Amino acid sequence: MTIEMPAPPRQSGVIVLKEYSKEEIDIESERLYNEIQQKERWSIELCKSIAPLTLEINQLKEENDVFLIAHSYQTPDIIYGVADEVSDSYSLSKAARDASQQTILFSSVRFMAETAKIVSPHKTVIHPSPDAGCSLSDGINAQDVRNLKEKFPGVPVACYINTTAEVKAECDVCVTSSNYLKICEKLPGKRLIFVPDRFMGKHLQNSLAGKKEVIVYDGECEVHALFTGEKIRSWKERMSKQGINLTVLSHPECDAEVLEESDIVGSSEVLIKKTLELSEKGEKDVMLITECGTVDRILAESKNDLNIIGACVMCKHMKKTHLEDILQSLRNPTTEQVIELDDEIIKRAKHSLEEMFRLAE
Ligand code: 13P
Repeated sequence: MTIEMPAPPRQSGVIVLKEYSKEEIDIESERLYNEIQQKERWSIELCKSIAPLTLEINQLKEENDVFLIAHSYQTPDIIYGVADEVSDSYSLSKAARDASQQTILFSSVRFMAETAKIVSPHKTVIHPSPDAGCSLSDGINAQDVRNLKEKFPGVPVACYINTTAEVKAECDVCVTSSNYLKICEKLPGKRLIFVPDRFMGKHLQNSLAGKKEVIVYDGECEVHALFTGEKIRSWKERMSKQGINLTVLSHPECDAEVLEESDIVGSSEVLIKKTLELSEKGEKDVMLITECGTVDRILAESKNDLNIIGACVMCKHMKKTHLEDILQSLRNPTTEQVIELDDEIIKRAKHSLEEMFRLAE
């Protein structure tokens, strides 16, 4: 692996931990060490230091009937230590909708936890890091959507899931990185408004050219916006000189030029699955144009050697949640950590999400 990965998170040490026996810690740290599969960055000593956190979190989850959902961009200690469900934003919305538990803890950014509350309004939804935002969802508000609807009356509005509940409430349908092309193609009429990701919007414009006009907003993901077609081209050329034929996989929040240089474009879950399939076939030279959590999952879940080239980018918002925040919010959540939304907003935003489930399947 030639890719540079960020250092594991540092727990603050502020929270008082429960005492466990040496045997309990040894068993738990072995489990973490073997599941995370990054023997240097996530050493057995590091796993020992976090074992009391994962042990108590798992115990509290069971005692209080909590379903812990984590997005793939969360750190490996959360994903392999305490999560019950890990995936992309579409699958996680369905998991939140279908959970049998009365409480959901969503380890991720705010809009994803809000989405869980919208699809399961009668459940308690805990979000351990209330200030974990997203440059896309923070870049647009409900008034911006109302202004667009006024300017283009009658034109259907599709909003990316990376938006607040208030924005979802103004839209006709919600979409994610795994279904935006399929759903937008199905919308009635020759025009549609797509908010807020300008790169995904551009991808839609290119894909629907000749069929539909796509009116696009100006937001972007601060992580995926950093990749350029130029950088990918130069990596590919450099590797090709060494006889390496790179397979490039990128997320659709990237610029159109990046997508043009890519062999596979898909959601975080699709990128992981496709990379694992490539490695099964012995195609081990890959470049992942996305957030670093995707690489962490591939390293843990691949049974074969992979040569992951390039540089992933870390999302500082996604990495705000630490095991300590999860433990504290399970022990005694603050009011800010429990998602509360206005009933009318829930009703309208739920309609957008139900339309997504209907059109995506
Ligand atoms: P996915 O739906 O692909 O997991 O994307 C979520 C996201 O915010 C990507 O930056």
